[in-house]
Order: sequence, then structure tokens, then C-alpha cells
Amino acid sequence: MSHPLSIVILAAGKGSRMKSPKAKVLHEICGREMLYFSIKAAREITDDVIVVVAHQKDAVIHAMEHHFDDLTFVTQDTENYPGTGGAMKGVTPKYDDVLVLNGDMPLITRTSIEKFLANPADIVMSVIPLDNPRGYGRVVIEEDQVLRIVEEKDASDAEKAINTVNAGVYAFKHHVLQTYIPRLSNANAQGEYYLTDVIEMARTDGLAISPLYVGEEEFKGVNSKADLSHAEEIMMERLRKSWMDAGVILQLPQTIYIEEGVRFVGECTVENGARLCGNTLIENSHIKAHSVIEDSIVRDSDVGPLAHLRPQSVVEATHIGNFVEVKKSHLRGVKAGHLSYLGDASIDEGTNIGAGTITCNYDGVKKYQTIIGKNVFVGSDTQLVAPIEIADNVMIAAGTTVTSGKYESGILILSRTPVRKVAGFFSKFFGKGKQC
Ligand code: UD1
Ligand code: MG
Repeated sequence: MSHPLSIVILAAGKGSRMKSPKAKVLHEICGREMLYFSIKAAREITDDVIVVVAHQKDAVIHAMEHHFDDLTFVTQDTENYPGTGGAMKGVTPKYDDVLVLNGDMPLITRTSIEKFLANPADIVMSVIPLDNPRGYGRVVIEEDQVLRIVEEKDASDAEKAINTVNAGVYAFKHHVLQTYIPRLSNANAQGEYYLTDVIEMARTDGLAISPLYVGEEEFKGVNSKADLSHAEEIMMERLRKSWMDAGVILQLPQTIYIEEGVRFVGECTVENGARLCGNTLIENSHIKAHSVIEDSIVRDSDVGPLAHLRPQSVVEATHIGNFVEVKKSHLRGVKAGHLSYLGDASIDEGTNIGAGTITCNYDGVKKYQTIIGKNVFVGSDTQLVAPIEIADNVMIAAGTTVTSGKYESGILILSRTPVRKVAGFFSKFFGKGKQC
């Protein structure tokens, strides 16, 4: 649904407090970049989402274009106009109502954004009372009137003691921005153009400025790695709750890690300690304790405990047991109960993979395919040296090394060193246990 509102998301800053070579807004929570979440909330409301970029702009644009179409990117001239006010200089919104949002607020929701629209003031700005306001701009309010915002680095001791802070979301009329953005100055402690200075200028001219008290959970900015992990915990809690509401059984949900790209269909159970990542689909399946599933499809199957499905695995009507690793493989109607590595393989219905089976898919230079047909019995401790193709109805004896090639239907494949029995060896070697 579209609303006549433009949303500007400021994502051009370095985020030095993250202490990372990566741009702040590209740090991930629940498997997606922080910026993805605020854009997602914005896109639920409007078709006009403008993202201001500069620092690592190519990486930021590339990452967001992977998720969304039709975003407008504006490049900030950070050299000449650094700061959140500088970020607004090249922005031309489509609509008269303009909401400006910091890009480091992944927890914001559509419902919260909509609260800003219900207020007719010239400027509506978000405020949060915090026990520890450190790092935030303080909001000077007298008799319910916002007088100004003072950045921490410019604040006097008395101003630093104010615990009502600017959350970094503002609804402006476009003409207010057109009037005041060109008049901003950088005569402050950081030598930056502060968007927050618009407040005092507008108030002096008699414009109506309305504070909107907002919740800490959705509006807290992410400025450090500790903030990032806290934001991830909150987002993860939301994801788990929404999947449980949709009918998924999560056992000890606090211990389960589910990323944003994971989908469940039908009756699914996930046991404690599971980690489900990337674009994974789980359909009518049971994921047992401490299994890890990445970018895979699991349908009508049970996986684990302690199994690992690596990217591009498709597992259908299959039993995967403990300590089984599957990578880029398609298993349909298969049983692989214990201790195996199945990589670059395609395995068909009725096939049993014995414990300790290894697809030797890599020769140090290239990766090769293993293709196994229907009703094949792969004995324990089998090595399948790829490329290899085994037809239907084949038995492979335990302990066999099946070398590369094609194997026809109906055969037994066996490679075993004959057993030797050396009489009297034990007592000679250990000096005990002599048979009477
Ligand atoms: C800002 C506010 C502060 C508020 C806090 C809330 C200003 C001057 N200060 O401070 O009052 O309490 O957010 O979280 O606005 N950005 C740009 N271009 C720049 C600088 C920053 O696009 O030149 C972007 C950043 O990528 C970030 C957002 O603006 O997404 C906020 O920048 P940040 O450096 O985190 O500002 P704060 O110091 O937190
Ligand atoms: Mg910030």
C-alpha cells in the first residue's frame, strides 16, 4: 500500500564506533544488512524511498539492489558537506510529507513510522527518555515545546544531564527542508552540518514542532558491535515469535537461531540449538537439536541431531542422522543415518547410505559429481571417488573404495583386503592372555 510520503534513509556515514572496515549499515543482523530492515519497513508504506550513500557507496547500493527494486540513491558530498544535514542536500522528495530516518535503526517498524503521519505539526521529531543518554543528541524541551537539539560533543554539562534524547526520526514538510537545509552551518565541535539544527531555526521562526515519544526498542540506534548484537537478539525474538504464530513448533526458542530469509511451510518442528540460515525453506519437516542448515531446501524430511546441510542442498522425503554433512546435493527418498559426507551428489529413492560414507568430490583442483540411482545399498565406510555414476539396484560392500567411473545396475561392488589371522600374536606382543 502506498502513502503520499517520501522516506529518506541516511546511510552515508562511516560508523567509526563500529571499529570495522565495513560500512556500518552493511553490518548484519539475522543474516541481512541493517539497512535492509529499515528500507523494508519504509517500502511497506511508500514507493518513494531515497537512500543517501557515500562511504562504500558501491557496496551499499549493490547490497540493497539485491533485495529491492526502484530505490532512489543520492550520493552525499561528504567532502564539502559532512554530517546528517549535509546528507539532505541533494535529496529531492516526490511528496510534500518527508520522513527522515537514520540508517542505523534496523528495528523500526511500519506501525511506528505511521505514528509520525497522524500529527499535523510542521516538524514531528522522535524523542526517547533514556537512563543512559550517552552518545545521543539531547533534546531541550520547555513546557512541552522542543527548543533545540544539542549534540553530545557540543553540549554543556547541564545539557549532558538531560536524559531525553533525539532518536533520529523526523517528519518534515518539504518546504521546511527547502528553507532550512541550505542555511545550516558547520560551526560546531565536529565541523559537520547537523540536520538537528533545523529544529532550533524552525522554532525561532515560529514553526510548530511536536515531540513524539517513542519506544527504545524500535528506535535505538546501532553504533557499536554491542548494540549490533542487542539489535539482533530483538529481531531474532520477533522472527521466532512470528513463526510460532504461523504454526511452527520451536523447542526452547531462545536457543534457536533463525535468519530473515528462512521460510517454513506446513507442519514443522525445530529443536533446541538449531541454526537456520540464508534462503532456507523448511517444509513439513523436523529439524533436530543442534543442526545447522544454510541456503537449503528440506521437504518432508527429518534432519539431525547435529547434522549440517551446507548451501544448495535439497533434501526430500529423506532421513539425515547425526554427524552427516551434505553440500550442494540432491537427496530424494534417502536414508543417511550417521557420520557421512555427501558433497556434489545426486542420490535417488530407496538408497541407504551406510555410516562413514564419504563422497571424495575434490581432487585438489576441481570438484566432481557423484550420481547414485534408486535402491542402492551403500555399505558402511565406503569412499566414492567422484566423478562416479552408480545405476539402480546396486550393492556396495562395507569398506569399499569405489573408484571413478560408471557402474551398471544389479551388481555388487566390493574392494576389500582379505583378512589375515596370525595365531598367538596377542600373547607374544603383550606378554599376557595366553590361551590354555
Ligand atoms: C544522530 C543525531 C543525534 C541522535 C542520533 C540518534 C545528528 C547530527 N545527530 O547522531 O542527535 O541522537 O543520531 O541515533 O543528526 N549519516 C550520513 N551522512 C553523514 C553522517 C551520518 O548519511 O555525513 C548517516 C549515518 O550513516 C547514520 C545516520 O546518518 O545512518 C546517523 O549518523 P550517526 O553518525 O550514527 O549519528 P549519531 O552520532 O548517532
Ligand atoms: Mg547513530
